[in-house]
Amino acid sequence: MSEISIRPAMADDQESLSTLLAASYAGLKDSYDPHGFDAALPYMARANPRLLASGTYYVAEIDGVAAGCGGWSVEKPGNGEIIAGVGHIRHFATHPVHVRKGVARRLLQHCLAEARDAGISTMMCQSTLPAEPFYRSAGFRQVDKIEVEMGTLALPAIEMRIDLTAR
Ligand SMILES: CC(C)(COP(=O)(O)OP(=O)(O)OC[C@H]1O[C@@H](n2cnc3c(N)ncnc32)[C@H](O)[C@@H]1OP(=O)(O)O)[C@@H](O)C(=O)NCCC(=O)NCCS
Repeated sequence: MSEISIRPAMADDQESLSTLLAASYAGLKDSYDPHGFDAALPYMARANPRLLASGTYYVAEIDGVAAGCGGWSVEKPGNGEIIAGVGHIRHFATHPVHVRKGVARRLLQHCLAEARDAGISTMMCQSTLPAEPFYRSAGFRQVDKIEVEMGTLALPAIEMRIDLTAR
């Protein structure tokens, strides 16, 4: 199997990661109300320039080609709230061609290790409904059922958390 490598995202990745995110998030359609989902997809699929420039958002490459992306921030998605010791998983996606190869797991391990080294003791995540088993397999546990605002819509999601002090 080809090796997965991780590098920080850059502003230049905007277009290629937006394409990757669109391909990945389009696959979620069956899990959501189709009408609402179509309207929300453009918001979900746009690589966030602030995340790309943050230094804590990453691209996973296989043979030099972007296979997945994801990162973390101290700002809570949506309202930007910052609480000392708390981090937030941001915008994870694996291209459909590369799912179940361990791409997102590698990205997540990288993010959790970096966050712990930066003094984060609790990592939060607003998981899409189908991604819940992925985060659960990594040790995250459900906190609550929530709705995430995407443009004018609110998409059902699962708030999850993991304690990094025990790892
Ligand atoms: C969720 C997602 C990022 C997982 O990416 P991935 O690279 O395929 O995940 P990995 O291969 O690293 O999976 C690691 C483990 O997570 C679990 N897992 C991943 N996808 C799963 C699925 N669809 N069903 C059940 N368990 C799953 C498994 O335990 C897996 O290990 P295994 O393959 O050895 O059994 C990917 O499916 C995706 O992009 N989904 C659409 C976008 C999305 O919902 N993103 C999350 C935003 S919060």
